[in-house]
Amino acid sequence: MTDISSAGTFALGDRTVKRLGYGAMQLAGPGVFGPPQDRDGALAVLREAAAAGVDHIDTSDFYGPHITNQLIRTALHPYPDDLVIVTKLGARRGEDGSWNPAFSAEELAGAVHDNLRNLGVDVIEVVNLRVMFGIHGPAEGSIEAPLTALAELQRQGLVRHIGLSNVTAKQLAQGRGIANIVCVQNHYNLAHRGDDALIDDLAAEGIAYVPFFPLGGFTPLQSTELSDVAARLGATPMQVALAWLLRRAPNILLIPGTSSLGHLRENLAAADLELPQDAMAALDWIGTTDAPA
Ligand SMILES: NC(=O)c1ccc[n+]([C@@H]2O[C@H](COP(=O)([O-])OP(=O)(O)OC[C@H]3O[C@@H](n4cnc5c(N)ncnc54)[C@H](OP(=O)(O)O)[C@@H]3O)[C@@H](O)[C@H]2O)c1
Repeated sequence: MTDISSAGTFALGDRTVKRLGYGAMQLAGPGVFGPPQDRDGALAVLREAAAAGVDHIDTSDFYGPHITNQLIRTALHPYPDDLVIVTKLGARRGEDGSWNPAFSAEELAGAVHDNLRNLGVDVIEVVNLRVMFGIHGPAEGSIEAPLTALAELQRQGLVRHIGLSNVTAKQLAQGRGIANIVCVQNHYNLAHRGDDALIDDLAAEGIAYVPFFPLGGFTPLQSTELSDVAARLGATPMQVALAWLLRRAPNILLIPGTSSLGHLRENLAAADLELPQDAMAALDWIGTTDAPA
């Protein structure tokens, strides 16, 4: 089994986690809706991730809904002391699987209680407010009201730390005036580089940046340059994509998602992959072109 410690650690709130974590969204059914097709397989992925030393799992109660959190609880509760489970609020699923904004104080409080119950914890370690002004990416708009409501839930002791997701730099600045923001979770990977400056700013401040869709999301990354580098290094393209993120900035924490044990092992093995400078240069070039994401 890979020793994922070789990828290093970074601060997440007042905890320190390994930089290779796991994103649980893929464990729900098709369209992140309903139960998984292979429940035992989903539980096995979670147990193997924890056994391999993963101490940072990203989830939400709106995956399923409820399903992913319930799988995490079934697989891993009582949780190891070092495990940090990060969830997110801000959406409610329709009966048709649609994703609808849910930002009123009542909806946020209800979502915190849903997460507490389904994860089986008394307090949630980190909650990301998942901003929904834009469906496909960050869009401007004030986050004052929902973040103030979430900060109140933190004051009540239900939430230890607060992060933001799908936000602009302006929203982050506004958010930092309201609460202590410990992480930002935005769409970023080697072909989707809109947050380059934001990542560097956060690194300078010691704040974690957690890219979602690190492998390209529902359509995993494909590029000739990526495949060429992978072939040269005797690695897979997905391992190279993760190793590039690890090298891109020290504050990047990875949460690649998979429902497959084979892919989990492959992704964790990226901890051991060293990218020489010429490989970094070839990969950097992908982000400066319109390569398909
Ligand atoms: N804040 C937000 O708005 C937001 C949005 C999306 C996701 N997230 C979080 O970010 C995490 C990561 O995102 P994601 O899971 O959507 O996307 P991802 O990690 O970029 O990619 C997952 C996709 O890649 C496939 N895959 C994984 N490992 C692979 C490998 N080694 N080889 C080939 N294919 C592989 C998976 O399929 P298999 O299951 O077949 O492996 C799945 O289709 C999620 O789990 C979730 O926790 C947050």
